[in-house]
Amino acid sequence: MDENVREMVTDIRTYNDFVEPYQTANSIVKAHLEGLQKDLERNIGHKAIHSIKDRIKKPGSILEKLERKNMNPDFDTAKENLTDIAGIRVTCYYIKDVYEVADILKKQLDAILVKESDYIANPKPNGYRSLHLILGVAVYGAYSKEYYPVEIQLRTLAMDFWASMEHQLCYKSERNDKQILSGQLKDYSNMLNQMEAELEDFY
Ligand code: GTP
Ligand code: MG
Repeated sequence: MDENVREMVTDIRTYNDFVEPYQTANSIVKAHLEGLQKDLERNIGHKAIHSIKDRIKKPGSILEKLERKNMNPDFDTAKENLTDIAGIRVTCYYIKDVYEVADILKKQLDAILVKESDYIANPKPNGYRSLHLILGVAVYGAYSKEYYPVEIQLRTLAMDFWASMEHQLCYKSERNDKQILSGQLKDYSNMLNQMEAELEDFY
């Protein structure tokens, strides 16, 4: 590893300053979702949101992603190009609730919709399903306002189970049963999808 790069990843103070507004953006979205979680339960009579998790991309992952994209390993480049430094995962019980929560978020927050990827309507070829929103969330300074991207992944429990298993199994790419596994995972994704559709009939 290049010495400058090593400095970047180990300079924890620089990293902390860099991620501070992203942490604020994450907190804003998370607080909003926690309010929604309670209010949706009151309004629709069942618990719509199972769980909300947030994370900030670690310095090593920022660096890895920039290297993967053949970009300069510095924070300015990260700010210009990465939209998943702040990330929130919302797990719901029903697909209907996933879309409901997404619609509410798009309407209510002081934010701009940067990108929406509907991998529920259009699953990835490997079987991955989720609804991704990238919201530019307004972060206020004393005399400033700047939008910071937050990647919000909305999914059901079944989608979360599949994605967690797929991540766990495919993380180490060196395995000789890769092709069989990929086929199985795709089948499981379809099975879970069908199970969900049937359960949704009881909504
Ligand atoms: P990344 O460079 O991986 O962030 O992809 P991207 O910028 O093209 O965005 P995409 O919407 O494809 O994926 C964003 C995030 O969704 C990933 O970082 C993962 O957290 C999740 N994700 C996307 N595809 C998969 C998948 O096939 N399996 C699992 N487990 N997670 C996925
Ligand atoms: Mg990512």
